[in-house]
Amino acid sequence: MHKKRVFSGVQPTGNLHLGNYLGAIKNFVDLQNKFECVYCIVDLHAITNKQDPKELKSNLFETAASFVASGLDPEKNIIFNQASVPAHSELAWIFNCVARIGWMNRMTQFKEKAGVNKENASVGLLVYPNLMAADILIYKATHVPVGEDQKQHLELTRDIAKKFNNDFKCDDFFPIVEPLIPKTISRVMSLRDGKKKMSKSESSDQSRINLKDNKDLIEQKIKKAKTDNNPIPSEIDGLKNRHEATNLISIYASINNLEVSKVLKEFGGKNFSTFKSNLSESIIEKICPIGIEINKLLKDKSYLNSILEKGVKKADLIAKNNLKDIYEIIGLTKFS
Ligand code: AMP
Ligand code: TRP
Repeated sequence: MHKKRVFSGVQPTGNLHLGNYLGAIKNFVDLQNKFECVYCIVDLHAITNKQDPKELKSNLFETAASFVASGLDPEKNIIFNQASVPAHSELAWIFNCVARIGWMNRMTQFKEKAGVNKENASVGLLVYPNLMAADILIYKATHVPVGEDQKQHLELTRDIAKKFNNDFKCDDFFPIVEPLIPKTISRVMSLRDGKKKMSKSESSDQSRINLKDNKDLIEQKIKKAKTDNNPIPSEIDGLKNRHEATNLISIYASINNLEVSKVLKEFGGKNFSTFKSNLSESIIEKICPIGIEINKLLKDKSYLNSILEKGVKKADLIAKNNLKDIYEIIGLTKFS
């Protein structure tokens, strides 16, 4: 039996949005009182795509500020950046030698991100899931809160753990992780196209709500959000094939901690304009204080530095210890 430990990671690649918040960070906050939690800013994952060095540096602080502003307590949780704890990369190399090329080729995120010219994608992008498995397993984490888009990577993490345990006959050394995926809304969709994921890489800013958007911008984006011409249904069945409607209703449910069926009971029969003003209000109430706090925290770099430094120390200690056992199991010698 493994001690329950939560691990999750977020890339420092610019503005966090409502998808990151409802898909992941809101869950991080809920978990902090129940488990020992390790939350990592995965800068090494970010460089699988080209990054501007200056922006990468400032995005690290922006992501740390977003964590704290969203309600993560730096005293309760380990908050740190991946590049500061070398054991992640060391275990990732080991997993490069455990995982099979066929496993990588099946990853849908790789296919999406590599696009048509797969040959031209970085090797890092292909083996990205091995680094992700290393992030989690170097802490022997048991639970991983993520959005639905990361489910396949977590299945791969389970496969890697099983193969390692099996290959090296060290039954139960690595835990078989459990994904924690939000039930109400596992994937927040674009406000312009209900079939596309809300994403920071989407060119139109109108497609997403950023954590730093102000009240007027949120109101305007929700007003313009795509819907259909039918009224809101009273039953879940009435949302079938209505992607945009489903998305907006689910966002409202998730942000207010309600079941979708309860929202439909309240708004069933009404038109979207009434619903949208309620939706804006809920988003503004939740997101604007976070945005204001992010901006405030960003002015206090020394505070953010101290959070990360403290987090790195704690994370490094756990990771180093586990890496020692892993080297021993494999038969690698590390002189120090
Ligand atoms: P990323 O920004 O890609 O590092 O993602 C950080 C976390 O946010 C991961 O757990 C993702 O699954 C989650 N996430 C990103 N976009 C969305 C979305 N549109 N809906 C739900 N979760 C998301
Ligand atoms: N791949 C995740 C994403 O793009 C980020 C990530 C890296 C992660 N390592 C992780 C998430 C470990 C959970 C656990 O969103």
